[in-house]
Amino acid sequence: MTHDQALAASSPAEHPVAPDTAARPVIEIRDLYKSYGNHEVLKGVDLIAPRGHVIGLIGSSGSGKSTLLRCCNLLEDSQKGDVIFDGEPVKWTSAGPGRLPADRAQVRRLRTNLSMVFQQFNLWSHLTILQNVMEAPVTVLGRPAAEVEAQARALLDKVGIGDKAASWPAQLSGGQQQRAAIARALCMGPRRCCWTNRPARWTPNCSKRSCASSRIWPPNIAP
Ligand SMILES: Nc1ncnc2c1ncn2[C@@H]1O[C@H](COP(=O)(O)OP(=O)(O)OP(=O)(O)O)[C@@H](O)[C@H]1O
Ligand SMILES: [Mg+2]
Repeated sequence: MTHDQALAASSPAEHPVAPDTAARPVIEIRDLYKSYGNHEVLKGVDLIAPRGHVIGLIGSSGSGKSTLLRCCNLLEDSQKGDVIFDGEPVKWTSAGPGRLPADRAQVRRLRTNLSMVFQQFNLWSHLTILQNVMEAPVTVLGRPAAEVEAQARALLDKVGIGDKAASWPAQLSGGQQQRAAIARALCMGPRRCCWTNRPARWTPNCSKRSCASSRIWPPNIAP
């Protein structure tokens, strides 16, 4: 995600406040950088959330929306840039890679005023994505592992995350985890499927996969 990709749609304040307070953004992010190893996810993101506005982050799956929010809540360390709450910048131990918030009391205070709703798909965190998909067919249905593995890999390809088979759930974006959960459900060859959070919309770069995904129901890969 770059500065240009951090698109913000906002609605104006419904509850007027004093002009001096209203002038200060509730959250401001300046030139934020975040990498996982060599994978650069946030590349100089700027964002201003004025008081009383609703901000929507729009971006393709895996583009860094949740990473930005986690960095904002100081649940993830970022490598460069400023996070400012109500005009108060987060204090860092140093500049550059390896920096950490310097003031624990400040972090506690800032977090008290910032809530977060997480994406959650209950993948088993101690198993890889491939193992997540294979576990129930092998253990519960007693099917041969080699046959299940071939089916699991095909399903992961179909939902667009074949390259994530060896990754751990924590290394996937929320949408990628959602697709892993779909592959896991389909690998059991169910006659019916209950969705607690049906993927009603898929992000733009997945529109083709979305069509492909709707065609994988009912499952067309024989167990
Ligand atoms: N802990 C991690 N270790 C390594 N890579 C990670 C980690 N968390 C996220 N990533 C990678 O960082 C990228 C951004 O992930 P992020 O969760 O921010 O995406 P997102 O924009 O919220 O996507 P979605 O719309 O699917 O939820 C993805 O490519 C993901 O695979
Ligand atoms: Mg996300």
